[in-house]
Amino acid sequence: MTELRDFFGRHFGASPTHSVRAPGRVELLGNHTDYNQGLVMALAVDKFIEVAVGPRQDREVEIRDTAFPERVRFALDAIAKDPGVPWADYPKGILLQLQQRGVEFGGFNLAIKSSIPLGAGLSSSAAFLVATALAVRKLYPFTLTPSGVGTPPLRDAEGNVAAPSDAERLLLAKACQAAENQFVGVNCGILDHISSLFGRARQVIEIDCEKLAVSWSPLDGNLAVVVCHSGVKHALVGGEYNDRRRHCESAARALEVPALRYATLESLEAAKSRLDRRDYECALHVVGEIERVRTGAALLRAGRLKDFGQLLFASHESSRTHFLNSCPELDLLVALARTHTACLGARLTGGGFGGATVNLVARDQAEAFREHVAAGFQQRTGRSIHSWVCGVVDGAE
Ligand code: GLA
Repeated sequence: MTELRDFFGRHFGASPTHSVRAPGRVELLGNHTDYNQGLVMALAVDKFIEVAVGPRQDREVEIRDTAFPERVRFALDAIAKDPGVPWADYPKGILLQLQQRGVEFGGFNLAIKSSIPLGAGLSSSAAFLVATALAVRKLYPFTLTPSGVGTPPLRDAEGNVAAPSDAERLLLAKACQAAENQFVGVNCGILDHISSLFGRARQVIEIDCEKLAVSWSPLDGNLAVVVCHSGVKHALVGGEYNDRRRHCESAARALEVPALRYATLESLEAAKSRLDRRDYECALHVVGEIERVRTGAALLRAGRLKDFGQLLFASHESSRTHFLNSCPELDLLVALARTHTACLGARLTGGGFGGATVNLVARDQAEAFREHVAAGFQQRTGRSIHSWVCGVVDGAE
């Protein structure tokens, strides 16, 4: 945080008054289930967006990112997109959402620093939205309620505001998702925002996207979470993602259910002849994933880690053959993971079409595993990869 504080001081000529750190996330199991009102398991990981803020007396916002040269400045009463600075759509989008909910806030300066690798599918965008929302809340305390805003929280003797309750965190997650859907223009689900807000150290976050309920279960301390980045940036993710989403929604309509959460493998098979082929294949992936998360939650609680790992491999296979959101590089990473005895399971994580794999590996062999996968990838493709052993951390604060 010191580096960010110094950066803030250099650019804004004062010290920041508050700061927030929001983690990225790894989708452990449950691919493309969130917008189908399904079940998903995620981990908040020790890659962060950090923001530092300080108030301004005018109704302007000025943003500096340690990684980009631009200075972004806009008036709170005239928030609009600037195609020249697309990353600023995230703070702008969430500020608009807060305004629409009746949150009152004034101007501020904001500095950002990210350690979340771009294009790896670890949800830097969600972390950015969450960090901005919480920074505004620290600067101009507010309480979100289902119908708008309630009595703002008081500051304690040190000037700190109590952290939001779980109920308010859910409302913040919804606001962040709405910012992405409505302002940024990405039709994503709520997984990423909930994960960044609800992380717990060494725990798996289990999300029921129909009930919007979150629970946690411990991740075995002998396991390491290794993320291997294929180096393929999922640039086409917008188009491909929305295409898969359309197939899922179309399948749900044909099955006459509100969302694929309400379909079963049996009802899907019974309706197969009526469904468009791609609708069927996409639905098969999603319904299978929801089932795998259900089974996986019970296996994790029972300590049956090997069996849990097999579900990760099955998930990847389903992505590869049914949902078609893998790519040769991701398939190679999973194939290499399979050949290492310390690896319990591996799959693509997040949207797909590039990005990273998540691997559950015996902790004492995590480094050997990373070397094994990197060497195999280099040998087969001539390219090197980045990989990380991720710590599983608390949510944004
Ligand atoms: C992306 C989206 C999420 C989710 C995953 C796939 O990360 O942002 O909402 O749909 O893909 O599970």
